[in-house]
Amino acid sequence: MTDTKRKSYYITTPIYYPSAKLHIGHTYCTAIADTIARFKRRAGYDVRFLTGSDEHGQKIERIAKDMGITPLEYTTKIVDGFKHLWEIMNISNDDFIRTTDKRHEKVVQDLFQKAYDNGDIYKGKYTGWYCTPDESFWTEQKLGPNHTCPDCGRPVERIEEDAYFFKMSKYADRWLQFIEENPDFIQPESRRNEMIQFVKQGLEDLCVSRTSFDWGIQVPFDKEHVVYVWFDALVNYISALGPLDDDKSLYERFWPADLHLVGKEIVRFHTIIWPIMLMSLGLPLPKKVFGHGWLIVDGTKMSKSLGNVIDPIPLIETYGSDALRYYLLSEIHLGNDGNFTLPNFVQRVNSDLANDLGNLLNRTIAMIEKYHGGIITKTASEGPYDTDLVKLAEQTVKDYETYMESYELNKALKAVWQFIGRTNKYIDETMPWILAKKQQAGDEARLQAVMYHLAEALRIIAVLVAPVIPTGAPKIWEQLGISGFAEAKLDDVRTWGGLHDGTKVVKGAPIYPRFDMPEMIEAPQADTAKEGAKPADASAVAGKGASATTGESPTAEGQGADNKAGAEQEIPPIKENIEYDDFARLDLRVAEVISCEKVKKSKKLLKFVLNVGVEERTVVSGISQYYEPEEMIGKKVIYLANLAPKKLMGIESYGMILSAFDFADNLEVTQIQSLIPGSLVK
Ligand code: MSP
Repeated sequence: MTDTKRKSYYITTPIYYPSAKLHIGHTYCTAIADTIARFKRRAGYDVRFLTGSDEHGQKIERIAKDMGITPLEYTTKIVDGFKHLWEIMNISNDDFIRTTDKRHEKVVQDLFQKAYDNGDIYKGKYTGWYCTPDESFWTEQKLGPNHTCPDCGRPVERIEEDAYFFKMSKYADRWLQFIEENPDFIQPESRRNEMIQFVKQGLEDLCVSRTSFDWGIQVPFDKEHVVYVWFDALVNYISALGPLDDDKSLYERFWPADLHLVGKEIVRFHTIIWPIMLMSLGLPLPKKVFGHGWLIVDGTKMSKSLGNVIDPIPLIETYGSDALRYYLLSEIHLGNDGNFTLPNFVQRVNSDLANDLGNLLNRTIAMIEKYHGGIITKTASEGPYDTDLVKLAEQTVKDYETYMESYELNKALKAVWQFIGRTNKYIDETMPWILAKKQQAGDEARLQAVMYHLAEALRIIAVLVAPVIPTGAPKIWEQLGISGFAEAKLDDVRTWGGLHDGTKVVKGAPIYPRFDMPEMIEAPQADTAKEGAKPADASAVAGKGASATTGESPTAEGQGADNKAGAEQEIPPIKENIEYDDFARLDLRVAEVISCEKVKKSKKLLKFVLNVGVEERTVVSGISQYYEPEEMIGKKVIYLANLAPKKLMGIESYGMILSAFDFADNLEVTQIQSLIPGSLVK
């Protein structure tokens, strides 16, 4: 249903190839779009969110033929799997377009005919190279070494066939002018520069039909040809809006799209070919194309051929869709690549969802029940710490909105989690359990105020986190006893004090459970396979920057020389700036090794007992390949004391010993010569 009173917002994901099951990288892409769509709805926009499937082309035809079924039988089965995945990921798309839908086919034929009629499509012969997995044409000059696709590195095929061509070259100058006049059209900026370089090198006319197979949409005026799969696929963004229907309201309301969200390797198709097709057809261009980075495993893009594909379904079944969504969106800065590792995932889910958010809710509801029979009394913000909390709440909504509007989703989440942290601290500062003893006059009124502040903070937090964790967020309002969460808008939480007097909380189950940390699984060839192996184990024990030794995904260690990125790792660029306060949260100190021994049945782990100044601590560290236990005793190391504990091979490990490593697999524990244990590192 369109609502013409509100501003419209049309967002799309790429339509996915049903050449295989979708993996966690595709899930990442769709989760980003879903989060933006949900945010825009809360921000008051009339949103249309489209995803779908890209079903034609030589690649699909070959797979189906090998299986002895028709291409449509094959794609229908796989597409049912896509739909199931989006359902369990809680994806809120308004439409799902298949390029095999009749509604799509007729629009492709109509636009192809129009481009032909206006003289931008002409007949010729294509002689050149084709990457079938990517469905892309390449000239000899642009190919990679040994006739490989410069995008994906796989072998290309030589093709020679009659074809129609689209006059891309004619539009190069107009395209450059458009990009100059619309500097924000391609995001992030680095991708914009790449595309400008690409066009400046010269645009060739694009082959837009094929004759050597028939799994595609027929060229309307020549039955021997099927439309090139990318020409076909890009049209989905318009065909889904029914531009040829009697009722054109969707098309009129939502085209041009506000955002095409796409992975970085298909930015070229979306920012060069698609706008030029639209220029030729005299149609408005989309407002923005954002090229997000890839989700990678040990520095390598996931792919079936590398065998490092992570299936999202078992992860969702075990940890829930909110956990996966939260991790992907908070961990990766949109536009950059991000590394998925199971230990890091579980650690973030435990600390941010179960501890920070989940516990805040549990504690608040339990205290309101215990102290006030579940009833919240509305109060003013007059006590110590109240104004601080209120100010931060209102500022957080503003910062969150600014970041979400600029698609800096991880920063938006960070701002919210800082507010969650502040609210947890408010409990420690106000000490409701002391107030509950009612030792002084005014304690009861203060206790009511503290409870109101906690509940109101949670009311606001729920609306802010809803786009990312749409399964858990409504439960926050349910437990607070507030109705109408589905319709709640950002406007409802901009100002403090929306929670009504007399609201009655309803205790429920914890919204996010804690999970056991996955045991470290040792790589099968750990002792011998040097090449391609990252010295991640030392950090893996701390759960940060760990390689994905998950069991589901063979790691770089198992792939040896096949792993390009692992073997040729370069010194990584400097990470994004952090604030001093972020650093100051780390408790880094000098610790002295009191004892050290190998962990039984482990090739990598050493168990340490450390004197950390105030007490003794047990730490398990994956550095056994580098040091003998005896040589560690008496050494003074730098130790991260406030890392959440975790169990490794059955031993509870507290904190982490810092080491430095290079990409030739060398590791050195950082050491201090003369300072005493407990000295601070800052
Ligand atoms: N069918 C084309 C898109 C046509 S849009 C008119 C296609 N399909 S795809 O299934 O190969 O990829 C779809 C999207 O998934 C792309 O945006 C791609 O970047 C994204 N991803 C595939 N693997 C990915 C990761 N490992 N990480 C993040 N996104 C990834 O291209």
